Parts: sequence; C-alpha cells; structure tokens
Amino acid sequence: MHIAILTGGGDCPGLNAVIRAVTLALTSEPGTRVTGIRRGFLGLLTRDVQPLQRDAVAGIVAEGGTILGTHNRCDPFHYFAAGGADVSAQAMAYAAELGLDALVAIGGDGTMAIAHRFSGLGLPVVGVPKTIDNDLALTDRTFGFDSAVAVVSEALDRLGTTARSHSRVMIAETMGRYAGWIALEGGMAGGADVILIPELPFSVQAVAEHCRRREERGLATLVAIAEGAHAQGGAMTVQATLADSPDPLRLGGVGHWLQQQLQPLVASEVRTTLLGHVQRGGSPTAYDRVLATRFGWHAAQLLHAGRTGCMVALQGDVCVSVPLSEVAGRNRTVPPGHELLQAARGMGVSLGSASLA
Ligand code: F6P
Repeated sequence: MHIAILTGGGDCPGLNAVIRAVTLALTSEPGTRVTGIRRGFLGLLTRDVQPLQRDAVAGIVAEGGTILGTHNRCDPFHYFAAGGADVSAQAMAYAAELGLDALVAIGGDGTMAIAHRFSGLGLPVVGVPKTIDNDLALTDRTFGFDSAVAVVSEALDRLGTTARSHSRVMIAETMGRYAGWIALEGGMAGGADVILIPELPFSVQAVAEHCRRREERGLATLVAIAEGAHAQGGAMTVQATLADSPDPLRLGGVGHWLQQQLQPLVASEVRTTLLGHVQRGGSPTAYDRVLATRFGWHAAQLLHAGRTGCMVALQGDVCVSVPLSEVAGRNRTVPPGHELLQAARGMGVSLGSASLA
C-alpha cells in the first residue's frame, strides 16, 4: 500500500504529531510506504514530495508547525497561479504516477472541502481535522485548539497583572473568524471580564457600562475579543482582501477599533494587544499531542480497513469517522444557548449585550 500525507491551510500545533502517528501506524505493517506531499495540495501540482520513514518522524511529537510545510491558498479546483482554472486533473495524474492508494489530508474546512472533491474524482481520502479555531463540523474537538487556548489564557494572566497595576481596561484580540471558541474558552480560563465572540454581536455601550461599573468598584477590566466579533448592526473588521485566496478575508483590528470606541466612554485608559500568530505557533500542549496521535492512529486504522471518503472525528471521548460530504462547507460555531456562555454569564462576565451583560 502506498499512502500520501499532506497538511493544508494554516499551520497548527499538533500537525507533526499526526504525521508521526500516521507514519508509525502504517509502516508497522510490512509493505506499506508513506510519502509526504509538501506545501499542501500545491505539492501535488509542483511534484514536491518526500519519503516518510519511521526515522524521519522521530522526535517530532512536540514540534510546532509542520515538517511538510503548508499552503493556505492552493485549491487545485480553482488554482490561483493558473488564473483560477481547474487543474485537479494534473494533481490526479501525479497521484496515479506515484501509485497512491490513498491520501491522508490534515486540515481545516477548506482542506476538507478540497479533499471531498478529490474523493469524488476517485482518489481515496481520509481527512484529519485541524484548526486552532475548533470550528469543524461533526467533531467536538480539533487538535491545536487546546494549545491556542493555553496561549490566550497565559496572555490574559499576564495582561491582568499589568491591567490591575495601572487600573486599565486591557483588550486581548484572539483568532477565531466565524467561531468564538478560542475567545470563549481562553477568556474563561484567563478570567476575562468581557468576552466578545462572532456569534453574539456586541453593543459598545453595554461593554462600556460593564467597564464603568467595574471602575466604580476600583477594578480593572480584561476583555477577550475574537477577531471575527463585530458590533450589533456592524461588520467584521477586515485588514485586507486577498484576491487569490479561497478564504479572501484577512481579519484583524477589531480590538483596536473597540479601544477607540470605548476610550471616550470610560475613565480608565484602554489598551489593546493583538495575539495573532503567537496563538498558532510553538509546541502543542500534552492534550493536543495525545489527540493528534489518536487521530493519526485512527486514520491509519481506517485505511487498513479500506474505509475512505471520511474524516476522523472526536465525539464525546471516542474517535469515529464521519463522511467528508457532511463536513465540507460547514462550520461549528458556538450555539447561543451553549453551557459555556451560561457559565460565563453566571460568573458575571459580560458577553457584550445589555440583556446579557
Ligand atoms: O483558521 C485558523 C486561523 O487561525 C483563523 O482564526 C485566522 O483568521 C486565520 O487562520 C489566519 O490565517 P493566516 O495565517 O493565513 O493569516
């Protein structure tokens, strides 16, 4: 059996742990060969591959990023370098030339959508869900999320001591385009007093009111805001639009926008920290190393059983497989009645609207 692995989309802590687990699990059977495709789906077009033997993956369980490299703007069904042409047949021809029996595609929603289309062309694929945003459909967790939450939590701890020393309002902007899981869990772990997520458009007045009430009690305020959060009746803060990308909106800046809106409404000084890619880089947490290893091992079991066209998922505490067709093009956002939101409100956290503050 000849299996290829690629990592698509943005990098994420735990990618190397999956590559290692898939390689070790597959090569424990004699006669199985594993090849790494470099830079996501781009490598299938540029013929950029490397053999993955057991020794090549030694010691990478704790390493951040991906030893295979990645590319978050390469969709062979809409290839930017060819003016948006469909060059998937070129990728299929190369897969046939390599003699691939199946592909393990590790990535987020974009990667799963492309994997699903290749699966439809007859390339057997098993997907593995990656994203720090934790927003893939049909899996309770994606690996990388726990590592990102740990970074946000530590950042809030640090911002908290300086906020309290100066009696300031400190805003920390987290990643999370359409789903607010990172801001919600990171904010909760770091003791944020205000948590603003894309799913619940916020009122600047309500946030200001919450800060003022804290000022009256002599308290500083910590705000965790997801990059995709926006004011009621407003739109997401877009930093740039990338014409050649399947996900053209580059977000970032809503924290500074909120700072400008809040400053005239509160007595304390308001300051902002944009956490950015610090949340995505570095070594995965122990939880993510274990989850990534389980996902990789499970993907190998599916391949051994000849089950493809699916994505590995965590449901409850059990690894299962779900059809790629049901994952592609769907996001898992924070439901309005989610228990974490209720718990946050119960702790006196403002979620940014008058009725919920
Ligand atoms: O999808 C994960 C994510 O981290 C988003 O939260 C963020 O908007 C995006 O990636 C940033 O991607 P890039 O590194 O390409 O700017």
